[in-house]
Amino acid sequence: MKEIVLVLDFGSQYAQLIARRIRELGVYCEIAKHNISLNELSKLSPAAIVLSGGPSSVLEIGHPTIDAKILNYGIPILGICYGMQLLAQLLSGRVEKGKSGEYGPAKIELTDSNDLFSGLGPFLNVWMSHGDQVIDVPEGFKVIARTSTCPAAAMENKAKRIYGLQFHPEVVHTPNGLDILRNFLFRISNCKGGWTMRKFIEESSREIKSRVGDSQVICGLSGGVDSSVVAALLHRAIGKQMKAIFVDNGLLRSRESEEIASIFSHDYPLDIRIVDASKAFLDALKSITDPEQKRKIIGRTFIEIFQKEAVRIKGARFLAQGTLYPDVIESHSAHGGPSATIKSHHNVGGLPEDLGFDLIEPLRYLFKDEVRRLGKELGLPKRLLNRQPFPGPGLAVRILGEVTAKNLAILRQADLIVQAEIAHYVGYQDIWQSFAVLLPVKTVGVMGDERTYANVVALRIVTSLDGMTADWVKVPYDILSRISTRIINEVNGVNRVVYDISSKPPGTIEWE
Ligand code: XMP
Repeated sequence: MKEIVLVLDFGSQYAQLIARRIRELGVYCEIAKHNISLNELSKLSPAAIVLSGGPSSVLEIGHPTIDAKILNYGIPILGICYGMQLLAQLLSGRVEKGKSGEYGPAKIELTDSNDLFSGLGPFLNVWMSHGDQVIDVPEGFKVIARTSTCPAAAMENKAKRIYGLQFHPEVVHTPNGLDILRNFLFRISNCKGGWTMRKFIEESSREIKSRVGDSQVICGLSGGVDSSVVAALLHRAIGKQMKAIFVDNGLLRSRESEEIASIFSHDYPLDIRIVDASKAFLDALKSITDPEQKRKIIGRTFIEIFQKEAVRIKGARFLAQGTLYPDVIESHSAHGGPSATIKSHHNVGGLPEDLGFDLIEPLRYLFKDEVRRLGKELGLPKRLLNRQPFPGPGLAVRILGEVTAKNLAILRQADLIVQAEIAHYVGYQDIWQSFAVLLPVKTVGVMGDERTYANVVALRIVTSLDGMTADWVKVPYDILSRISTRIINEVNGVNRVVYDISSKPPGTIEWE
């Protein structure tokens, strides 16, 4: 049976981080709903469970809790922050609202360093973020760390292997956090570890092979990291039974479809069909200027073309998609309610369910950084794995107003200059995206002795961790200046360049 640790999620912004840290230590970890029943849990047979933090208070009526039978199941439990308070409350300890709450760095004093804190102390810098705190630990528990304001910064019941931490070991601001989790996994829970990307490839290849049998699998390639890694993994698992389709929508950057063709025919040979559908997309976008309409038309056209190509592949029963773990968690998250549609996102993962294929989603338990590691292990080239994200609707959402062949040519040329020049910036590897946007605004300029009346290009260069929030990059003036000079001199139809200094929120990264 596969070794697995479960994180029961109480809506903490850190639940995913806990899972990632555990995986970093070589133990496979998944996130489960906090109210998973003992019956469901025992089917997974976890080696240990972690109760995450969360925004609730155990002092409120109706606060989220666990199936109390889990406490007597006999597996090691680590409660973090809210998780610790919940353990204390369920086991008849006492939790109270702290006088002012504790947020930020703190120094804890270890009063016992045998188990969870083995090899650490006597003082540790940690990260606290809590309002309530445990005042009396439950019977059978002892305090193993404290601060001047938090009498029980950590607690243990060694006999039952139940532990609580008031601080967050999963964040980088707790420098020894990984050591604490390592102790919990390997000293206390007797985990064996050894979960690596190589092992993941072996296991998922076996699963894919047995599920697919003799059938064919279609994989929609977008040129992005996720779909490329899916294709490479399927290729490893089932070889020629995987057929990749790449729809060139004509909205790609300069030489992009050639580059993808070259990667997948030379560096990483795959059976790939490249469909040039640029005319269909441009025709469908004719005289459309509304951003949402553009996105919907592109999404619809993509599905039509993909479907037409897919039915030509004989024996195709499965469709592979690059769904990632954060999307899976999001869709069944305890606290994730419906949110307002800001933009209709479209990508190859956005195909409708009624295409008539069974879905294969081999990355649905991986985080983004793990997908990059997987790609590396599968031998995909760096130039592909390190690509900046590129939106499904492509340059269409970077050309404000109507998308025409002429506008596309202007933007491609400007974008190429941005890419070439920004690569000289020393902080380049911290940039999330850097690109040009073509505005439907004309301004007056002067070149030589001539009056010009041409379009404006905006530069968007941002840092971000996950695309959800972003900040504009303080790019050195000399680089901005070179980009501007080159675009104005080299790109016909542009006579002004501006720099977008809006963060997200309130702006978004793409302009449409
Ligand atoms: P926004 O503009 O919403 O973008 O701040 C956040 C991130 O998502 C990318 N993006 C998309 N990716 N399909 C995608 O696969 C889309 O339709 C799409 N729209 C935006 C954007 O480039 C940024 O990284």
